[in-house]
Amino acid sequence: MTYARIGGTGSALPGEPISNDALIATHRLDSSDAWIAERTGIRSRHLADAAETSSELAATACRRAIEDAGCEANDIDLIIVATSTPDFVFPSTATLLQAKLGIVNGAPAFDVQAVCSGFVFALAIAEKFIASGASRRALVVGAEVFSRILDWTDRGTCVLFGDGAGAVVLEAADGPGILASAIHADGRHQNMLSVPGQLSAGKAVGDPFLRMDGQAVFKFAVRVLTDVAQEVLAKAGLSTQDVDWLVPHQANVRILQSTAKKLGLTMDKCIVTVDRHGNTSAASIPLALDVSIREGKIRRGDLLLLEGVGGGFTWGATLLSY
Ligand code: UT7
Repeated sequence: MTYARIGGTGSALPGEPISNDALIATHRLDSSDAWIAERTGIRSRHLADAAETSSELAATACRRAIEDAGCEANDIDLIIVATSTPDFVFPSTATLLQAKLGIVNGAPAFDVQAVCSGFVFALAIAEKFIASGASRRALVVGAEVFSRILDWTDRGTCVLFGDGAGAVVLEAADGPGILASAIHADGRHQNMLSVPGQLSAGKAVGDPFLRMDGQAVFKFAVRVLTDVAQEVLAKAGLSTQDVDWLVPHQANVRILQSTAKKLGLTMDKCIVTVDRHGNTSAASIPLALDVSIREGKIRRGDLLLLEGVGGGFTWGATLLSY
């Protein structure tokens, strides 16, 4: 049996951290550092400037992941980018990334759109390419510039998000690797979180900004994150007690606390980076993963439970031995 294991990780954040107070002052928001920190756990985020794109951030994260994996860019034979903020309508951010990395071996490259669950969707797809023998070494990336789709007059959403990218090199291996994964969607909940606009006849038609029913998303997220974590553990024949680190999508520290509690995990087993990154959508899990590995928290051999939930609605989890 061929497993897919993480050979290397990398991440990228644009510019300097922007504190809650600085954000509030810039956008003249009727908000406070205390409200944002207490309700979300967020204290700062990074925001891209007008010239920085998802593919740029992805390229920096990927160069670091490739170096960490000890391979060459042209050893990569599959590129999957999870993003809801692509550089263009087309070509895909994955092909733009491929060109930036100088990968000229004809490797397939494509984007996955599953909003904040995008990275676990991309990981599940890449794992299947590797397990089937179609690929040996994949780049799996989450990259976002959510600041482009925020309504800076809507204090209920604009304080929550940040920009960034994270990447892993996923390689074929004789031992684990990924032990189990699960991905799900239910389109009936599309109105809970959306950017209900489109480009047509040279104009943005509809509403090009992120809209959210925060409380509904909160309740839904805790329920499905708990369920899908239990689903992948059951698939692998393991229990929460076996998990070394929960690496959840970083949306709100209260969602992480509620999910960990329902799973019977203490917060010292839960990776938290939302305080410094905000919600970076598809980038949040690989960013949290890379930062925690480089800080020495997550070590080789640790059992990791990665999980995400996002617009669509979509949700999923991956259980893996790092
Ligand atoms: O990737 C998934 C994406 N989204 C999420 O995960 C978000 C999930 N939801 C949440 O994180 C929370 O629901 C929020 C952080 C969005 C909101 O927290 P909440 O505790 O559910 O607050 P709320 O929506 O019930 O609002 C409470 C009050 C309201 O004022 P009134 O009506 O009580 O006077 C809001 O208008 O807080 C007000 N409020 C704010 N006040 C200061 C909303 N945003 C802000 C703000 N600063 N930024």
